[in-house]
Amino acid sequence: MRIVEAASTTTAVETVATLLFDKMNRSSAVIGLATGNTMIPVYAELVRMAKEGDANFQSCFFFMLDEYQGFPADHPSTFKSYIEKHFLRPLGLKESQFAFPPAQHTDGPRQYEELLKESGGIDLQLLGIGRNGHVGFNEPGSLANSRTRIVHLTPETIEANKDQFQNVVPEKAISMGIGTILEARELLMLATGKSKADQIKFLLNHHDEPQCPATFLKRHSHFTLVLDPDASSRINLNI
Ligand code: GLP
Repeated sequence: MRIVEAASTTTAVETVATLLFDKMNRSSAVIGLATGNTMIPVYAELVRMAKEGDANFQSCFFFMLDEYQGFPADHPSTFKSYIEKHFLRPLGLKESQFAFPPAQHTDGPRQYEELLKESGGIDLQLLGIGRNGHVGFNEPGSLANSRTRIVHLTPETIEANKDQFQNVVPEKAISMGIGTILEARELLMLATGKSKADQIKFLLNHHDEPQCPATFLKRHSHFTLVLDPDASSRINLNI
């Protein structure tokens, strides 16, 4: 595991955007994308870099990590709408370059796993971390060998997401499993802000703890964790 303690949030974001940019600028890269507030500046920076540089992302293919269940794909708060707004449209990419977890079909998880296999696997998977240590929507209690499946969100996650929804807040989602994520050739996690400091401390001090599913990612031989000063602020504290 490689840990990058960035000197500022801006540097942390730039580090992640640069790693992604370099991978995406190669032909036929398969990239796994994550959502959440943490990633909004990463996508903005990637768009800026692409517009400034000589970027060609037209031969990349993108897999989304997770999606809420029970909402039409064009609902403004779905992860599909998020990625269209922050990434797909600003970069002029085509929808045919994206795979979205089929949240509405009972056979969706199996279909998604098949599609991942057919693609030859993910070269680089971008990841955030939830305040309860979830990865994608692998909530506490998830196991290392879990696959893409429909999951029930925990009360903390439902609470954390509620501002994005007006009336009905989703209680279920489809998410790549931890075992699915571990099959990506590289993992790149970004954590920013004080609200992530406790989970980052826990992650660094523990292995294979289902209560913090992110700890399973430490099994991966190419796992890079990029932290801003707030997210890394509790790392060396023994309290
Ligand atoms: C969301 C997503 C995760 C994301 C996490 C953190 O619910 N399912 O993929 O990493 O929660 O989100 P944020 O960056 O807004 O803190």
